[in-house]
Amino acid sequence: MSSVDTAIRLISTGARSGATCSPDLIDAPWVFDPRPGYGPGSSMHDVIPVGTPRQGQIPAEYREASKEELDARIEAAKAALGERVMVLGHFYQRDEVVKYADFVGDSFQLANAAKAHPEAEAIVFCGVHFMAETADILTGADQRVILPNLAAGCSMADMADIDSVEEAWAQLEALYGTEPDASGRVPVIPVTYMNSSAALKGFCGRHGGIVCTSSNAATVLEWAFERGQRVLFFPDQHLGRNTAKAMGIPVELMPMWNPNKPLGGNAGDALLDARVILWHGFCSVHKRFTVAQIEKARAEHPGVRVLVHPECPMEVVDAADAAGSTDFIGKAIAAATEPTTFAVGTEINMVNRLAAQYPQHEIFCLDPVVCPCSTMYRIHPGYLAWVLEALVRGETLNRITVDETVAEPARVALERMLAAKPGTTPAHVIGD
Ligand code: 13P
Ligand code: SF4
Repeated sequence: MSSVDTAIRLISTGARSGATCSPDLIDAPWVFDPRPGYGPGSSMHDVIPVGTPRQGQIPAEYREASKEELDARIEAAKAALGERVMVLGHFYQRDEVVKYADFVGDSFQLANAAKAHPEAEAIVFCGVHFMAETADILTGADQRVILPNLAAGCSMADMADIDSVEEAWAQLEALYGTEPDASGRVPVIPVTYMNSSAALKGFCGRHGGIVCTSSNAATVLEWAFERGQRVLFFPDQHLGRNTAKAMGIPVELMPMWNPNKPLGGNAGDALLDARVILWHGFCSVHKRFTVAQIEKARAEHPGVRVLVHPECPMEVVDAADAAGSTDFIGKAIAAATEPTTFAVGTEINMVNRLAAQYPQHEIFCLDPVVCPCSTMYRIHPGYLAWVLEALVRGETLNRITVDETVAEPARVALERMLAAKPGTTPAHVIGD
């Protein structure tokens, strides 16, 4: 199975059948870096907030280098830097970048990996902005975290900003008050998905809240319900809804909060009964998966096992055989002892890599259109070579730093997550 980059190239030139979601995917990111927007890929139609970081033009020597030259330069720079630098790669990164990662994982594992390597002077984070911020918060002050392309954000993380969350919190406090009930549980606990800015993690730290990832969302919600009567969950409505539903909370008790409307667009009564208030954010990669795709996979591949990420809409999670984080999906496939057909609902780079890794199984992406995460796709080997060679010269490019006034409460919320222990929610329901 070819890499996603190769598949895009072959489809674009007509050498292979199939479809991509944008002809611009064939271009290197520096072609579209100067343009506004998230770039080609699954979030290209999302609204990019004002002030979102942009990546400046990298030198021509990196833009014009062949694939082979970039490979040789990255290898030489990594060899020269040795253990002084650690390259981290998220599962959704392109193969051409992942092959240089010293550690590949999901966002929870990458946060732990960053924290576990105090000897690394620099951490080159091949992932997206919120992950690099988290690494900076969890690592020592003298460790530098580098994001090879500053435009590698996350459209979902951008759907909740600190001002809108502060405003929502003020309205909820006015409605519920701040006094705990007879059992000592406060009216609301804020829970932010890892896919959020450091400012929102700091907000949770300051307000008795916590961070979660898709690999520990159920554990974190249990933690929150031990301390609060209800949860304000942001930014991903789907992860919040799917996790709470698997814990037995009725969907009617999960109103959505639209930050552009008073009381999030809800009647006060609905909010009084609420158990989980869901921010109205979503991931454009996982929004692409549908029940119709699952039905087609089941019709065409009898016995197929359908695995999806909990950022998918509820109907898709309900129609799948199991839902869980990227790590859960990888482990579920690794655990299959008999040749099996898997239809997977998550980012295409990861699905294709699993297919190559496990040739004994048939593994395919539920979405037939090749449409990578636009922002993960911003990291290209040219940027990796650029930041690594700068480190060899003693220069730090694209450093991500979180101000200590934000980092300190954000660390509190992250440490609460790292310390939270799994409870009783069945693992097969939501991949904890
Ligand atoms: P994981 O937490 O499973 O790595 O997912 C991160 C992400 O961005 C999913 O879209
Ligand atoms: Fe963000 Fe979705 Fe991309 Fe993950 S896959 S980084 S949630 S846009």
